[in-house]
Amino acid sequence: MKPPLDVPFSAATDGVDPTLVPARTLYTGSRMPAIGLGTFGSDHVSADQIAQAVAGAIGAGYRHLDCARVYGNEEQIGSVLDSLFESGLRRDELWITSKLWNDKHGEDEVIASCRQSIADLRCDYLDAYLVHWPFPNFHPPGCTVESRSPNAQPYIHDSFMKTWRQMEMLVDLGLARHIGTSNMTVRKLQLLLRDARIKPAVNEMELHPHFQQPGFFEFVRAQGIQPIGYSPIGSPQRPERDRTPDDTVDIEDPVIVGIARRLGVHPAVVCIKWAIQRGQVPIPQSATRRNYLANLRGAVSEPLTDDDMRAIAAIDRNCRLIKGQVFLWKDNQSWEDLWDLNGAIAQ
Ligand SMILES: NC(=O)c1ccc[n+]([C@@H]2O[C@H](COP(=O)([O-])OP(=O)(O)OC[C@H]3O[C@@H](n4cnc5c(N)ncnc54)[C@H](OP(=O)(O)O)[C@@H]3O)[C@@H](O)[C@H]2O)c1
Repeated sequence: MKPPLDVPFSAATDGVDPTLVPARTLYTGSRMPAIGLGTFGSDHVSADQIAQAVAGAIGAGYRHLDCARVYGNEEQIGSVLDSLFESGLRRDELWITSKLWNDKHGEDEVIASCRQSIADLRCDYLDAYLVHWPFPNFHPPGCTVESRSPNAQPYIHDSFMKTWRQMEMLVDLGLARHIGTSNMTVRKLQLLLRDARIKPAVNEMELHPHFQQPGFFEFVRAQGIQPIGYSPIGSPQRPERDRTPDDTVDIEDPVIVGIARRLGVHPAVVCIKWAIQRGQVPIPQSATRRNYLANLRGAVSEPLTDDDMRAIAAIDRNCRLIKGQVFLWKDNQSWEDLWDLNGAIAQ
């Protein structure tokens, strides 16, 4: 049964006209809205709350959703989308991304998994389907960072290419208009670009003022791939198990707070404005109407000044928040082994 919509589909009077939201042109010529709504509720936002936020956000003018099978809420989001389509929203007005989870990298699993996300999201096709992590290492939701799956393995390029060949078939079959990567590195993308028949159109990566990844970011853009920036506000409500004592807080940075005070907005909005102006596509998560509306308004309001942009460029702390420890494959490893810091892929 469909959940009743708190916010029926009709443009909210205080919303943003979606045609005013900037868009990025991909190498295929397709245009993707330059801000999307993140839908990972983690431990603190239920699937139904996320689905209601999707309904409210589309009413407020969002046209881009960042979904994933592992977020455990595609069915609920699909129910909401179905109602919106029935009330007149057209499928081609939306950009919908989903992602292949790590337990479905195997032969014949990719296409079935993509079909399942399409069925759950009730959306006929995906605008983008991404390989969520470049390893088939599986872990149960909510496990501790020390958990390791027994079959965990390092990045093995031949295995990844078998998965990628199936991703390419999704484009041939019309199930995904674009395919892409997530949680990659320069080295891994170089290998993929060498061997791909269809290159990734987008690469989802952690990007926020305290983690700007300038080298990787410029590399991705130089390849004609659009960077999508996840955790753009610095994921302030991520679970305790994903925090380490050295983590810094973007929305408390004096530079961000100073600009926010001047503009009369929350520091989160400054992070979003900076991201869009820098050229990545931020996908902030919010289940609070005031906040997701403020983020979207940030995308269409007066840009930050060149001085603001320079000041924010200078506060990078190289502080990765989503370290991925659960995907390590040996004892006594450090999370840095996942990210090829010296340019070599750890084995
Ligand atoms: N590819 C990957 O491996 C990967 C990894 C992580 C995340 N992601 C994607 O990226 C999305 C965003 O990342 P994230 O969820 O980690 O973190 P985030 O977007 O940086 O932060 C989300 C938090 O910020 C708060 N917030 C949002 N807008 C705000 C505003 N204007 N004022 C005050 N607080 C605000 C939200 O609270 P309220 O709900 O109260 O507004 C929420 O707790 C995810 O949902 C997911 O779609 C992808």
